[in-house]
Amino acid sequence: MAILEVKDLQAYYITHKYGRSTSVKAVDGVSFQVEKDEIYGIAGESGCGKSTLLKAISGLAKPPLEILAGEVTYNFDGERLDILALNDEKQRRKLRGARISLIPQGSMSVLNPVRRIRKSFEDIIRAHLDVSAEEFEEMVRKHLDALGLDWTVMHTYPHQLSGGMRQRITIALSTILKPDIVFADEPTTALDVVVQRGVVQLIRKIKEEQRSTLVLVTHDLSIHAKLCDRLAVMYAGKIVEEGEVESIFSTPRHPYTRMLLNSLPKLGDSSARSSAPGAPPSLVNPPSGCRFHPRCPHSMELCRLEVPELLEVGSGHRVACFLERRGADAQRQAVGS
Ligand SMILES: Nc1ncnc2c1ncn2[C@@H]1O[C@H](COP(=O)(O)OP(=O)(O)OP(=O)(O)O)[C@@H](O)[C@H]1O
Ligand SMILES: [Mg+2]
Repeated sequence: MAILEVKDLQAYYITHKYGRSTSVKAVDGVSFQVEKDEIYGIAGESGCGKSTLLKAISGLAKPPLEILAGEVTYNFDGERLDILALNDEKQRRKLRGARISLIPQGSMSVLNPVRRIRKSFEDIIRAHLDVSAEEFEEMVRKHLDALGLDWTVMHTYPHQLSGGMRQRITIALSTILKPDIVFADEPTTALDVVVQRGVVQLIRKIKEEQRSTLVLVTHDLSIHAKLCDRLAVMYAGKIVEEGEVESIFSTPRHPYTRMLLNSLPKLGDSSARSSAPGAPPSLVNPPSGCRFHPRCPHSMELCRLEVPELLEVGSGHRVACFLERRGADAQRQAVGS
């Protein structure tokens, strides 16, 4: 069952200067579903719209970010909720933290530097629950224990903690109310490999202990490989491929996904890693047709003219590429002849 359904979402940064308005088309026609209890990964180069997508679907869009179109529906135990239709900020706030939780990018610096960690826990818990001092302590102790964190961190200030510990605390804070769905934006990016491993384990633990659903955004495909059930690959504001992690890694179908995977180091192979020429396009004036066509080694006339739809090419595997259509046409002709 899908806990989250996103349909044709369009979210642009719109700025007005000297009488002219500029739109950064950061999320442009994105549709996907997240199943209950899965870890759904979102990958793609810097600037392709990953964080914007998370902000939009967690109901945090504020100017200059505007939602132009689309639906974002949550399904909590049979209760359907369209978060974009909730006009009341109070209602949205109630939903966040308790039902939906976003661990924002660079969240280690979100902890208030002049307040002890305990205060941050108090803020989030008291905003949603009316608990006594004992209940508060029991709740936090249990949660920290389950995550393998020590109660003593409660008395510290953020600057007294290492980056890895601060990240664990932010994750603990974001999950203390046992949300149904957690969005984690680059939770391991600023950490060294050893500390990353600890954070990956922590995320797994939360998933198992709380049976929550997780949407994990990172440009680091090795983290996706370790944690995710399914993966979506974004390019310039659109999802270009989506499927089970194993099938994306074993049989990537979109030329962009292949490029991303080719740029990963491989064990025992010391040859230079290939990368596609060029850089990600501007999202103010993105290329016509398929946004990847200027960098694509297989680009055809059609790719410049039309936008490829995200179509199913195998069980649960979706790809937005005209090469797939060409392959299917060739197959049909072969069968017909
Ligand atoms: N406040 C803003 N105003 C205008 N444009 C913005 C704003 N924030 C982000 N953008 C632009 O929107 C696009 C998508 O940005 P976003 O932060 O969602 O990308 P990302 O995939 O999360 O990148 P990263 O991997 O670097 O975190 C980029 O072109 C970015 O420059
Ligand atoms: Mg980001």
